[in-house]
Amino acid sequence: MGRLLIVSNRLPVTVVRKKGKSNFQPSVGGLATGLASVSKRYSTLWVGWSGIEMNSEEKILEARMRSEGMYPVNLSKSEVNGYYHGFCNKTIWPLFHNFPQYAIYNEKWWDAYKKVNEKFQAVVTEMAESDDIIWIHDYHLMLLPNLLREEVSEAKIGFFLHIPFPPFEMFRLLPWRRDLLEGLLGADLIGFHIYDYVQNFLQCIHRLLGYEHELGRLIVEDRIVKVDAFPMGIDYDKFESITSSPEVEEEVKRIRKRLGGRRIILSVDRLDYTKGIPLRLEAFDLFLDKYPEYVGKVTFVLKLVPSRTRVEHYVQLKKYVDELVGKINGKYGDIEWVPVQYIYRFLPLEKLIALYRAADIALITPLRDGMNLVAKEFIASKIDGKGALILSETTGAAFELVEAIIVNPNDKERVAEALKIALEMPEDEQINRNRTMQERLKRYNVEKWVEDFIQELDKIKEVQHEFSTKYLMRDANNLLKDYRDSSKRLLLLDYDGTLVPHADDPRKAEPDEELVGILTELSSDRRNTVVIVSGRDRKTLEGWFKNLNVDLVAEHGAAVRRGGEWRLVEGVDDWKESIRQVLELYVDRTPGSFIEEKEFSIVWHYRKANPELGRRRAAELESVLMSLIAGTDLNILKGDKVIEVRKAGVDKGRAALEWLSDDWEFVLAAGNDVTDEDLFSVLPENSYSIKIGFGPSRAKYYLRSVHELRSVLKKLQRL
Ligand code: UDP
Ligand code: G6P
Repeated sequence: MGRLLIVSNRLPVTVVRKKGKSNFQPSVGGLATGLASVSKRYSTLWVGWSGIEMNSEEKILEARMRSEGMYPVNLSKSEVNGYYHGFCNKTIWPLFHNFPQYAIYNEKWWDAYKKVNEKFQAVVTEMAESDDIIWIHDYHLMLLPNLLREEVSEAKIGFFLHIPFPPFEMFRLLPWRRDLLEGLLGADLIGFHIYDYVQNFLQCIHRLLGYEHELGRLIVEDRIVKVDAFPMGIDYDKFESITSSPEVEEEVKRIRKRLGGRRIILSVDRLDYTKGIPLRLEAFDLFLDKYPEYVGKVTFVLKLVPSRTRVEHYVQLKKYVDELVGKINGKYGDIEWVPVQYIYRFLPLEKLIALYRAADIALITPLRDGMNLVAKEFIASKIDGKGALILSETTGAAFELVEAIIVNPNDKERVAEALKIALEMPEDEQINRNRTMQERLKRYNVEKWVEDFIQELDKIKEVQHEFSTKYLMRDANNLLKDYRDSSKRLLLLDYDGTLVPHADDPRKAEPDEELVGILTELSSDRRNTVVIVSGRDRKTLEGWFKNLNVDLVAEHGAAVRRGGEWRLVEGVDDWKESIRQVLELYVDRTPGSFIEEKEFSIVWHYRKANPELGRRRAAELESVLMSLIAGTDLNILKGDKVIEVRKAGVDKGRAALEWLSDDWEFVLAAGNDVTDEDLFSVLPENSYSIKIGFGPSRAKYYLRSVHELRSVLKKLQRL
């Protein structure tokens, strides 16, 4: 197995200078603490910023870091200012966490961000070997996947975002929105904590770059990129074993004694405005106010870690929190009792775990948090199963820890009430809830998370390989040779999305000059039979192709024209009226959608509707139609942004049998959507079946676009 190269802004340790002396300190935050356990299984190297501008003396530290597998990227003061303090912390962080009012858009910071990503690229390129797995982490390095792809096109590159990915409405505010998306798409696999972020990302990709996904797979030029959710876990065994150590046991006793045996409410966060700390303190204030029986009986341990202390909003927040703590302590406290015990520093893991164990309740109420590992760590530390977790619904963790008391962090009344519920929760209920969560955390721990991500990365590499072998352009010479060597050839060609690109208004998709030229040439060769196999109605096809010597299949096979005469496979019926009424309702409810009525079918088009709404309404409509047509001989056909209802037993495959029952030396069929799959399924073994675009298909080959198919057809006409 190759090596695992982890690339992130922070290394697991940060270099700090105190009183003229430099040393290492563990890095703060979920990414560093969570990933620190990864190195166990893989041969891991880590590339990241040291956290300081290293002077010549500190070069010794650099050597020590390298010997431990950590490769520092050195950044100058101005680079750190623009890239880290600026773009990362004052643009991306607030915007992605739903604080657009804090986001600043500064061209100079963006330049620094680009430059630093290029610096990382240079370091990684220099050290990477061909079978390494390169795994890039977090929002600091969103341009890096593509920068690396440009250098090493075959590299195996994964990307994971540890913070939320915002909805389109938020993301679109960024002046450099496309650059960031294009940067990310250099990866083979892009991971997020939860499915909501995946959906937001895919929506942005669709709206801003036009790529549509198929089950989370995107085709980007000639590469497939996978996007999926991988909720990050914790090193469960580590927590379980530390928490049961005698030292922790002693420390727990000490803490409880020092707090006078009172019930303990705990929260642990970096001091960040996304964590909802002031609102949490206000909710605690409200709790004491509403339930005075708890005054003097509970202590709130507010454990904060200094973070990004050079960013103004963090400085202001610190002041405000200090004030609030003072206010509450002044309002309720007395000589014997301090309601809020405030700790403002980083604690090593053992001390932190002792706090988790000592606490009765964890009160974790961020306004927005990509995951929140603290919530998981609290649960893992409760070896006796006792304790209650109150967790904000706007954290990634809330999607897994569903047995917690889930709250809206803005709803102070409900948070105060949740505190009471938690304090009064019967022990067996606490244990039941915690054991269920523990099982889950144990199973999907951080090791499993890494394994899952890497397996998925391997898988997508295999799919890429398979697709590159299915790419017709790789095999085009065989096709040309077989075509040249044969004297009786059948060409079955779908129209929309295959010979012409999809148009918003289907009436405007008439054949252009180039296409008419191609079809004229091909159909005037006596050895060729060209059939346009379309979903369009007879009249349209006849109008468009009247001067060409081509055969036609209309309405997905309801009517065929061979040698000039139409033959109807299906008779006209009166079933359409009831279906039309339903479709009309969906036109009203889905702006941009419309009905197309054909001779033998009726169609709802939603290409022009908002893509998300269109998709949702299509799913609804499908289920309504299903119940409506149950027991009839009608069926539903889902095409590319269309839903069509028609008589069963009519399809392009059956229609093609009209020609396929003859002997042919060469058969080529091309199509782009589900309706063409029926056609592909009836072709003889040695045919060339081609799907336009990416997705699961019975076709033997695929081409990326209408343009590519046309270029293949042009080559044929010259033979
Ligand atoms: N942490 C720590 N010492 C402290 C406070 C926090 O080691 O004094 C660790 C904690 O164990 C957790 C991480 O910091 O692993 C915080 O991660 P989380 O995902 O909760 O939030 P983030 O800081 O990444 O936003
Ligand atoms: C969050 C981010 C991490 C970051 C951490 C601490 O967890 O996802 O990438 O390292 O906060 O922030 P800092 O700015 O100190 O690295």
